[in-house]
Amino acid sequence: MLAKALSSALLGIDAVIVDVEVDIAQGLPQFATVGLPDGAVKESKDRVKSALKNAGYDFPARKITVNLAPADLKKEGAAFDLPISIGILAATGVVKGERLREYLLLGELSLDGSVKPVRGCLPVAVAARAAGLRGILVPQENAPEGAVVEGVEVIGVSELAEVVEFLNGERTIGPSRVDVAAFFERSADAGDDFAEVKGQELAKRALEVAAAGSHNIIMIGPPGSGKTMLSRRIPTILPRMSFEEAIETTKVYSVMGLLDRENALVAQRPFRSPHHTISDIGLIGGGNTPRPGEVSMAHHGVLFLDELPEFKKHVLEVLRQPLEDGRVTISRALISLTYPSRFMLVAAMNPCPCGYLGDPLHPCSCTPVMVQRYRSRISGPLLDRIDIHIEVPAVKYRDLADGREGECSRAIGSRVEQAREVQRERFKGSKVHSNAQMAPRYIKKYCEPDSAGSRMLELVTDRLGLSARSYSRILKVARTIADLDGSDGVREQHVSEAIQYRSLDRKVPS
Ligand SMILES: Nc1ncnc2c1ncn2[C@@H]1O[C@H](COP(=O)(O)OP(=O)(O)O)[C@@H](O)[C@H]1O
Ligand SMILES: [Mg+2]
Repeated sequence: MLAKALSSALLGIDAVIVDVEVDIAQGLPQFATVGLPDGAVKESKDRVKSALKNAGYDFPARKITVNLAPADLKKEGAAFDLPISIGILAATGVVKGERLREYLLLGELSLDGSVKPVRGCLPVAVAARAAGLRGILVPQENAPEGAVVEGVEVIGVSELAEVVEFLNGERTIGPSRVDVAAFFERSADAGDDFAEVKGQELAKRALEVAAAGSHNIIMIGPPGSGKTMLSRRIPTILPRMSFEEAIETTKVYSVMGLLDRENALVAQRPFRSPHHTISDIGLIGGGNTPRPGEVSMAHHGVLFLDELPEFKKHVLEVLRQPLEDGRVTISRALISLTYPSRFMLVAAMNPCPCGYLGDPLHPCSCTPVMVQRYRSRISGPLLDRIDIHIEVPAVKYRDLADGREGECSRAIGSRVEQAREVQRERFKGSKVHSNAQMAPRYIKKYCEPDSAGSRMLELVTDRLGLSARSYSRILKVARTIADLDGSDGVREQHVSEAIQYRSLDRKVPS
């Protein structure tokens, strides 16, 4: 007898439907799988056998062949245990009926027949809906992440027997439900606020500009000046995530198996801050069984690299592709995978190895050569992709002792949102979302300063010896400042503020 069950395999952060065909024929007892299964799928045979027996079903002592199609797709993981078991039960006539064709199955089995969680249920739910299926049967623990997708039934199960009864129409199990709106509401009142940051008005303003245009930013300042504190609060002034953005980001967490009922949807912009000892695979993804890296976990959020010069040079170099393209491509012999990675880069560093260069109170113990060497650890190409550089000096005692609170994140965020609205209108119908992403063509079209602005730019370009790259960074940032100002044109004051945000273009102070 031949039977077929539907299942799914992951390709990057998307799922592809896989047919699990089971044939049971006369012959010597044998259990073979074909269709490029990896080690984990092969082990699945032993689990399937035990699970079926221990759940009280017969394991046929005949020649069983399992084919996973399409064959050219690499399938990993244990999620095929459930569809293979059900396929065997269908081939022996234990499972019968329509539902086997309407529902996709996914789940790892324990030896006693209980269903254990797997990775990637969200993309699977999306794929099932796109394929016009009625629903998916997934491990109970994974049901909430699938349930954020509307228009497809996501049914959580915990025992093999339950699945058999459901498919035979002998048992009803209601689809899992989650309150999607609640995830977005929760994000509104969570955590830190800019009101807690005393003083540092210039830094806060620069962060507002960065958030408004989605510009990458680096902060340079002595230890304890509040760089980390400021960075952590950036997600609180970024625009709220849209549902589509939340789904895209959540897919990354789903394929990594990081979701649970409380965190079924990532509706808050992520803030990732990997330690400087991270490997290149940890940062951009990859590995034997490819996994997304930190840049993808920061998708639609913030990637914070604290102590930037401490990162290994080759690790920083791999950041180029995600910064440029908003995605990471991982090439393998048979296939290449893509993970999304559109994030705002926020970096922090000390001005010199000891940290006190330029500090009026602490003497700096570094020689100019040491300072130069320290700064040169951040490669030119990386620095080229950072629009805004600012110095964050030590907080003044007067500011710290001031009992008043600073401006709250909500107020800053509403200005950011307004500036984003202007950009959405400007770039409607194109692939660009924010000023930071403008190509030269757009810079020419939208960032032309007025005559006073042009003169000022000419003056500083010559005096500071700015490169063509810095020049276009300044224009983009000036555009964002004008947007925050509600100004159609880019004027002198916008250009002059943008020029202040290029402190690394200036020479090292001695
Ligand atoms: N502007 C500030 N307002 C209030 N507290 C501050 C400020 N700057 C620093 N702090 C305090 O100092 C601590 C250390 O700051 P941190 O952000 O870690 O500095 P850095 O990352 O620059 O070394 C913070 O946790 C905070 O308690
Ligand atoms: Mg810090």
